[in-house]
Parts: sequence; structure tokens; C-alpha cells
Amino acid sequence: MSERTFVMIKPDGVSRRLCGRVIARYESKGLRLAGMKMQIVARELAERHYAEHKYKPFYGDLVDFIMSGPSIAMVWEGPNAVEVVRKMNGATNSLKADPGTIRGDLGLSLQNNVVHASDSPETAQREIGLYFTDAELWDYPMPDAAWLGQKS
Ligand code: CMP
Repeated sequence: MSERTFVMIKPDGVSRRLCGRVIARYESKGLRLAGMKMQIVARELAERHYAEHKYKPFYGDLVDFIMSGPSIAMVWEGPNAVEVVRKMNGATNSLKADPGTIRGDLGLSLQNNVVHASDSPETAQREIGLYFTDAELWDYPMPDAAWLGQKS
């Protein structure tokens, strides 16, 4: 029943020193951090990550932005993690995101929207594979997590 999703704290989130607050939200929710990596994303990786937007007018700006400074790539795990994290992040456009969500509380921009997260389990698998090897992902006991060991 456990699912993994890919999450990135984008360069705006890192430079605005929001990493701790963003990570604390996912931790408080009860999700398990399975992997984490800080880097300035190389152009080739940025282009592969956002390949689905290649023909959109904002593609060039998006790729430049994602490479503009260090970002933090993470894998979070838990029941329905893809959907849970997307709900926690809020609408893509921070200006329209509900209060209580990460973007609604911390962002004021469409492009610089603090976080990225996978939009489906299939996308999660692809994005996790772009940023992490299997050896960089961790499974460890989390005794207080009710969902671990549950069958449904
Ligand atoms: P993200 O969840 O990372 O997925 C694609 C990103 O493209 C999105 O967050 C925004 O940062 C950005 N984006 C989406 N739509 C637009 C747009 N119309 N103009 C500029 N950036 C956009």
C-alpha cells in the first residue's frame, strides 16, 4: 500500500530558506523520507525532467529557473503519497493555491512555486529514476507509523 513520490524544493524555496519548513510538513504528515539530494541540476537533467512541457511557451524559462541555483530532490513514501503530497503542495499557481498548502502559504508566483511533485505514480517512477539510483533510496524502521505493515 505504500507509494513513493518525487518532490523537489526548487531554487526559490532553497534561496528563501524554506527547506526546513517544507520538509517539516511532509514529516509531520507521517510520510517517510526515502532519499534526499542537493544539487544544481544540469541542463540535460532539467530538460529530461520537464520534457512533457517542451513545446509550452514557458519551457525555456522553466528550465533556466530550475537550473538557477541549488535545489533539493527528495523521495517521500507513504499511503497514496503522490496524491497526498500534491494536495499538501496546493495548486500549481501559488497565487491561486489554498491557504494551508505549501504554495498557498509560502509562494506568490506561478513559476517560482517553491516545490515540484510528481503528478501520478507513473510520473513518480520516472522522476525518481531520473534523480536517484536504487542504492540512494532507504528503507528503515519508523515504529510510530501506523501505515507501515498495514495491508490496506
Ligand atoms: P511544476 O509542478 O514544477 O511543473 C511544471 C512547472 O512549470 C510548474 O510547476 C510551474 O513552475 C511551471 N509552469 C506551469 N505553468 C506555467 C506557466 N503558464 N507559466 C510559467 N510557468 C509555468
